[in-house]
Amino acid sequence: MAVAHDPEPRHYMAADDFFHVQGTLALTYDDVTLATRYSEVLPRDTVLDTSLAEGLSLNLPILSADMDTVTESGMAIAMALNGGLGLIHYNMPEKQQIKEVDRVKNHVHGLIQDPITVPPGQMVGDVVRMMEEHKFAFSTFPVVEEGGRLAGLLSGSVVRPRYAHRKVSEAMIARDQVHAIHEKDLDPDPIAVADKFFTDHPGINKLLVVGDDDQLRGLFTMSDVERITMEKKAQFRPARDSQFRLLCGAAVSATRNAFGELDRDRIRDHVDALVERGLDVVAVSTAHGHTKGVGETIRVIREAHPSLPIIAGNVTSAEGVEFLADCGANAIKVGQGPGSICTTRVVAGVGIPQLTALYVTSRAARDAGVSIIADGGITKSGDIVKALTLADAVICGGLFAGCAEAPGQIMEIGGKLYKQYRGMGSHAAMEAGSAARYGHIKGGNSKIAAEGVEALKEVSGSVDQTLTQLIGGIQSGMGYLGSANLAALRQRARYIRISPAGQREAGAHDVIEMKAGGNN
Ligand code: XMP
Repeated sequence: MAVAHDPEPRHYMAADDFFHVQGTLALTYDDVTLATRYSEVLPRDTVLDTSLAEGLSLNLPILSADMDTVTESGMAIAMALNGGLGLIHYNMPEKQQIKEVDRVKNHVHGLIQDPITVPPGQMVGDVVRMMEEHKFAFSTFPVVEEGGRLAGLLSGSVVRPRYAHRKVSEAMIARDQVHAIHEKDLDPDPIAVADKFFTDHPGINKLLVVGDDDQLRGLFTMSDVERITMEKKAQFRPARDSQFRLLCGAAVSATRNAFGELDRDRIRDHVDALVERGLDVVAVSTAHGHTKGVGETIRVIREAHPSLPIIAGNVTSAEGVEFLADCGANAIKVGQGPGSICTTRVVAGVGIPQLTALYVTSRAARDAGVSIIADGGITKSGDIVKALTLADAVICGGLFAGCAEAPGQIMEIGGKLYKQYRGMGSHAAMEAGSAARYGHIKGGNSKIAAEGVEALKEVSGSVDQTLTQLIGGIQSGMGYLGSANLAALRQRARYIRISPAGQREAGAHDVIEMKAGGNN
């Protein structure tokens, strides 16, 4: 690549110079624009991989917010399938949060470890009824004796009412004619082994896996294996763990008991249970992360799980980053009051505009060896490009709250479709459990001040569609800055402030818009 000289260094400045000259003036995304740089990089060739901690790498630097109107299992699956990550919120009973994590981790991971099986003595009619009752999307079942030994395979072609009065053992394909592979023959790459098996055996679309003594250990289906094989070639591969399961994060708070003391045992037990289900990262999520309670919560988790990636926050100061890093966090959430549903700055008079907060924390994070995640205030892809010049990833709430995969019902108002989106510091959300996030005890004081609003978002299609727009914008920005990856983007970013007139010039203007565009 040709050597690129700094463009007009007196006007378009590198981060350290630029934020230094701003002094005490705090800036956010719309206050600033980025200068273009010499480029040999095509947007489509840019890579968005990011590492948030040892053992936590994403193919897309975007997380969905741990909010009760944004991320449950459906959203987390969609985010991970696109290479990002969903943080399951904690405004639900702990058992339910564990189930939500379970759903993500068992979504499609090649080997189905607990397939639905039927016993040889059952009637085919019972199997038909079970299928109807549970609305299974598949109709072929391994037949397993009491004790777990494989007895045969009940093919979908015989799971029909006309065979209702036959026993499964009469209708099944007998064990000696069923293809099965020993689990030890799957190493080192189970998907490659299963893929080859399906190529070598035309017409067979299930491969059973057995252990010693012919115990059923699981099964592969050809469609899952094909999907995973395709993913390996895609530009934005799903974010998966070493066992091909989708990555999943979950949020916890600094839970207190009825006496207001940190409930260490409860926090530890819950995180243990989440980790046992395969959780990849825990987020200690509060409005004020630079506190004793959050610090102690991180220490409790770190002591119990020395290598579990921990996200913690939120902070907006260098001191806050150092504190959380010292306690054992790996990635720090940065943002106090920038969110679209946040009123913290209005209610409490605190918080820092997001771009300045990111600059200050990014320098402390570099020194402490942790990563930072820009949380809140992102309304368009250009904001993400600006955020990624300083942060390792972004968290979005409002951008995803209108998607089909977000929790909640669609409602129609005046012919338009909406979904609810509420702040975790709104009265309704705190009543549902998130009070601890704002330093209150649930049900403790009905007069606590809300720091978020209850709102609506227009329904906005699927997460795939939303992310396609966002990714396109990010890659475009990286092309303009001649940055093939995020490290280059951070290094090549040059900033300049813009005036209100400059802001007006930035959007469509002096035209009658027929079709809204460029919002993401
Ligand atoms: P966006 O702008 O993406 O922001 O909608 C999502 C982020 O906002 C934070 N959050 C809140 N902040 N009061 C606040 O001050 C609240 O009620 C509230 N709820 C969520 C949170 O960091 C989220 O990721």
